[in-house]
Order: sequence, then C-alpha cells, then structure tokens
Amino acid sequence: MKSKKRILTGDRTTGKLHLGHYVGTLENRVKLQGSYETYIMLADVQALTDNFADPQKVREAVYEVTLDNLAVGVDPNKSVLFIQSEIPQIAELTVFFMNLVTLARLKRNPTVKAEMQQKGFGSHVPVGFLNYPISEAADILSFRADLVPAGNDQAPMLEQTREIVRKFNATYQNVFAEPEIKVGRVPRLVGTDGNAKMSKSLGNVIYLSDSAEVVKQKVMKMYTNPVRKHAHIGASTKSNPVFLYLDVFGTKRHSIRITQLKHQYVKGEVGDVEVKEALIDVLNEFLEPIRKRRAYYEKRPELVIQILKDGTKKAQKEAAATLKQVKRAMQLDYFKDF
Ligand code: TRP
Repeated sequence: MKSKKRILTGDRTTGKLHLGHYVGTLENRVKLQGSYETYIMLADVQALTDNFADPQKVREAVYEVTLDNLAVGVDPNKSVLFIQSEIPQIAELTVFFMNLVTLARLKRNPTVKAEMQQKGFGSHVPVGFLNYPISEAADILSFRADLVPAGNDQAPMLEQTREIVRKFNATYQNVFAEPEIKVGRVPRLVGTDGNAKMSKSLGNVIYLSDSAEVVKQKVMKMYTNPVRKHAHIGASTKSNPVFLYLDVFGTKRHSIRITQLKHQYVKGEVGDVEVKEALIDVLNEFLEPIRKRRAYYEKRPELVIQILKDGTKKAQKEAAATLKQVKRAMQLDYFKDF
C-alpha cells in the first residue's frame, strides 16, 4: 500500500545539468521530496537512445548527474536515486506497452519530432529513439507515480503515458492511475545566446557546476539586445536573457536593484556591463550553496555509490511489485509460486 503520493522523475545522463534543468524540474523535486515519496531516475537507458555509440559518456554522466541532484538539495534520506538500466522490469513493461501504441502516434510527438530534426535523423531514426516515449511511460508507471516534475518539453511524454494507462486499463485490468506533470516555475529557460531553449547541444548553457570564474565569462559573453549599439540608447528589457535570468534567479534582496536597472536600461542610462555584473552576483550567490554541497559529495565517492546502490535496490523492489501486477492483469502469471 502506498501511504504518500508518489513522484517519479529523472534526467537523461548525457552530461552535467544546467540552470534550465534547475528551474524546469530540479527545484520542484527538491521542494516536493518531503511530501511525496520521491523516485529520481538516472536515465542511462534513455540516454543511450541517442548516444548508443558513446557508452563512456553515458556512464560518466550517471555520476555527474547524481552529484548535480545531491548538490541542489536532493536528500538521499527522502528521495530514492536509482539507475534505470539496473531495473530490467522497466524494459519488460516497455515491451508490453509497445503493443498499445501505434507508429503514427509516436511520430506525432512534438518533442520527438523536434529532437529528430535537431539530430538530423530523417527516416533513419533508430527504433529505440522513436520508442523512448513508451519507455518513459514505463519509467513512470513502473513506480505507479502520481506526479512527474519535469520541463514543459516532457508534456507530450505525459500525454502519451496517460493514453497508455487508459488503453492498458481498458484492455486488461485496472492497474494504473493517470499521472500528472508538474511543470517548473520557468517551463523553458532561454539560452545565454537568446535561443528559446537552454541546451547543451546548442552550447548556450550555464552548468550548475560552473565555477564563479566560468559563470563570469559566460555572462559577459551573453546575448543582450542587438538594437542597442550604445548604452545611451534606451531599449526594452523583455526577451533580453540577462534580464530574464535576473528575474528568475534574483531573490527578494536583489529586487530593488533589478527594478532600478530595468528603469535605467529602458531610458538608456545603464550599460550592458553593469547589468551583467549584477547578474554575475545574482548567479554566483545562487550557485554557491550548490557548489558547496557538490564539493562535499565529490570528496566522498563511496558515499555517492552507496546512495545509488541503496536507491537502486529499493527501486527494483517497487518495479518488481508493479510488474507482478501487470503480468497478472495480462494473464502471464503461469507459475503462481515463482
Ligand atoms: N526525458 C527526460 C529528460 O530528457 C528524462 C526522463 C526519462 C524522465 N524518464 C523520465 C523524466 C520519466 C520524467 C519522467 O531528461
């Protein structure tokens, strides 16, 4: 029996996590881990769907993404951190779900469509990649999650998951409830170059693990507002990523200064450098406690491994219990005493 409601979320292990991940999903999982039973997946199997030829990258990222989660405040006493590839039940559930989804439906997924275009797959898309929304449904439903904190780009995966729930329950037996997405405070964070999305492949990211010096360099190079050739030309602060970040990461303490900078900017009374210096302060203040926690765990690699081991064991138990129910519903329970 579940006492608390449950969260399942996770990250593709393709590299370190950045500010976009923070506002899209990390912030919510940290905030909610006390009130939900929280499972956080290192999605190495999903990472392989578009990085199958780069297993070393995926393996290293499992460790880095674990550190990122611990660094932002995921508490291993409250949340279960586990490795996807260690849970074979997810793969089994994926196979059963594949019967319930058509190829046409998979191809309509807007996030998958955009990613396919970005990766230039065309008609040579690997089956595993196209299939990842089904696999993600299996991630979520293996843990019978109620809530999935995730960025806006995961909304189509949740829609797909709910469709699978309805189809499964109608075809076999009522096993699953429909989970909801919990989108972050900022559903999609712009990149440092002004691109609509912060993304490693676009090279416009600030990592949670960036040093103060690197943050400074990246901010100084940020895209601002190309119509503003001189500081004395007044310009809108809207869609200027420097101001967007100030709004997102500034605390109450910064609000007077930010409001003032906005007024000055619109009137052409402040230069980009001064605004960027304010952002450097804001970001480094935000990142400092994250860096400290990261350093703590970096110095204790055996502890990090133990956290993953313990979490994976718990996750295995839970996924096995779900799969048993699924197999019973599908009349695949041949040897009842196994
Ligand atoms: N697709 C997510 C990402 O791009 C990772 C992920 C895998 C996930 N399985 C999930 C997120 C289940 C939420 C729920 O990072």
